[in-house]
Amino acid sequence: MDIEEIKKEAIEKIEKIKENIDLDLFRKEYLGKKGKIRDLFSLIKDLPIEEKKTLGQKINQLSLEIEEIFLLKENSFKKEIKEEIDFSFPAKATELGSLHPITQVRREMENIFQMMGFSVVEGPEIETQWYNFDALNIPEGHPARDALSLGKTFYLKNGNVLRTQTSSAQVRYMQKMKPPIKIIIPGKVYRYETTDASHETNFFQLEGLYIDKNVSVSHLKAILHKFLESFFKRKIEIRLRPSYFPFTEPSVEVDMLCTVCNGKGCAACKKTGWVEILGAGIVHPNVIKNGGIDPKKYKGLAFGLSIDRPTMMKYKINDIRLFHSANLNFLKQF
Ligand code: DAH
Repeated sequence: MDIEEIKKEAIEKIEKIKENIDLDLFRKEYLGKKGKIRDLFSLIKDLPIEEKKTLGQKINQLSLEIEEIFLLKENSFKKEIKEEIDFSFPAKATELGSLHPITQVRREMENIFQMMGFSVVEGPEIETQWYNFDALNIPEGHPARDALSLGKTFYLKNGNVLRTQTSSAQVRYMQKMKPPIKIIIPGKVYRYETTDASHETNFFQLEGLYIDKNVSVSHLKAILHKFLESFFKRKIEIRLRPSYFPFTEPSVEVDMLCTVCNGKGCAACKKTGWVEILGAGIVHPNVIKNGGIDPKKYKGLAFGLSIDRPTMMKYKINDIRLFHSANLNFLKQF
């Protein structure tokens, strides 16, 4: 019997112990009723008295030492547990997120149009060339179709495109619905272009389409005027400027009197006094025909605006790229 050997083994074992359950097993193995210390005592039971005495003392000593290392370890566990869980410690506050400013503005716009009787629908972001171009009276060879020209289109390998405009959903819904049709189509659009403070490859638009028997430019003007005043929560003056879009005839661009300088001319309106806010017009008969509706019986008005730009105006954001920056300091302000 080698008492030193047993001591060494016990010390090595206890050092490796990390959990209470193993510590308990250790106690049983050495100090328990059927443990190693007891075994030692029974081994010396029949030895001559002198030998029994000296060995007995040594075993007693070993027993004390093992008990000591056991208690030390037990205490260290108790301390650790105490340090780990402090029930009086205040709970960590959960950080609340917020809706992205574009989402907030999009919902605000949707509410305004819904109050005017428009339904909110969506179209696919991956679109066929037919719906994105042909159906909208943009024939092949038109500069708006050219990836490197004005249209700035992302073409996919299978010939589809990432829609460049929410107008692409117009004919989809004309084919599905019977007039009167009164819908808005908010969503993401894509343009292949260099980004800067006012251009992004990916931004949001909101499209409007109203088809009925007697739709006219005065309806268009009234709807847009009402919308802009509700959105900016103030009196707004607008003007319709003749423009060109293949899918509308006549086409207009809608400007609003600059809300920063009230028309006097400032940096925000590039000294013109007016801010261009959206494109619109009376739907071209070819487009209505492509939607399976008789252009002799029905007329339509359509408009399309960016959601990003009014958001920037509303919150005085000077760089469109911030919207996709995932910059929490920026996002936390909304
Ligand atoms: N789709 C046009 C654009 O992306 C905006 C637009 C102009 C939409 C006139 C219309 C419209 O519905 O009638 O620039």
